[in-house]
Amino acid sequence: MEVERVQTIAHKSKNTTIPSMFVRSETESPGTTTVQGVKLGVPIIDFSNPDEVKVQNEIIEASKEWGMFQIVNHEIPNEVIRKLQSVGKEFFELPQDEKEVYAKPVIGSDVSSEGYGTKHQKELSGKRGWVDHFFHIIWPPSSVNYSCWPNNPTSYREVNEEYGKYLRRVSNKLFNIMLVGLGFEENELKSVADENELIHLLKINYYPPCPCPDLVLGVPPHTDMCYITLLIPNEVEGLQASRDGQWYDVKYVPNALIIHVGDQMQILSNGKYKAVLHRTTVNKDETRMSWPVFIEPKPENEVGPHPKFVNQENPPKYKTKKYKDYAYCKLNKIPQ
Ligand code: OGA
Ligand code: NI
Repeated sequence: MEVERVQTIAHKSKNTTIPSMFVRSETESPGTTTVQGVKLGVPIIDFSNPDEVKVQNEIIEASKEWGMFQIVNHEIPNEVIRKLQSVGKEFFELPQDEKEVYAKPVIGSDVSSEGYGTKHQKELSGKRGWVDHFFHIIWPPSSVNYSCWPNNPTSYREVNEEYGKYLRRVSNKLFNIMLVGLGFEENELKSVADENELIHLLKINYYPPCPCPDLVLGVPPHTDMCYITLLIPNEVEGLQASRDGQWYDVKYVPNALIIHVGDQMQILSNGKYKAVLHRTTVNKDETRMSWPVFIEPKPENEVGPHPKFVNQENPPKYKTKKYKDYAYCKLNKIPQ
């Protein structure tokens, strides 16, 4: 069975109506549920600030209060980011049959398996998101499967590896700061989550233009199930976060890296850090794209509240289980 891609549907529905499976009810549509005229002031943290203690405190505070922040001066060269975006865009602009070579299997596939895809399973609301995606693991080398990566454009692999190299410096630094902020000692970090073992899963989101952006969502409201997400968007705005029960646009900051605290950080810390609830909107005339990298445990690893945060007064708020079982429940909307 062939899945019809949103990119194809978007092409067909230019200037006309879109299929009803994308049209949200009033309680869900961004047109009716977004606080208008305000951009959410998500903390912006300057990684080049020589006052390291201040940077650490800002990260820890933002992880507790917002579950989200933006990092500027992160030392990933602009050119490396520009190339990452360029090869990803080139891939999505290939003829459809060339992209389908990388298609994930329809049966038994889920959003975390690698390859080109479109979420065909309907949400609880019965609706679908206006987005196609590509997933592939970029680290550690033992988990990378290059046969899943696009061959075209030919520089795709080199460019993505280069980005991964710089990205890991930021993700390792962030991880260490966040764990130290929970009270772990430097010598304990490896046993909590060894940075060389953590899976770095890259996703490319491709949101084609939509004739009625007020009525559709890109990705529906969710928290990321990983530990943390490091995301680069293109310049088309569309990320929204929930704050005090309301939806707000997140300000686009050029060259910033957007960080989401994910479920595993919330679980590990037994609720001290908060995973951010977010969703995306799409644009009438322009294609939005984004490149999140999800930092997550290996499938067989046990995840749960760390014993450090559990005692008589603080019972565990979450179950301990294998990450693959957590992911299965999350993807199939089964209670954890
Ligand atoms: C996601 C996501 C946000 C974006 O893919 O999990 O939240 O800005 N994407 O595209
Ligand atoms: Ni997300």
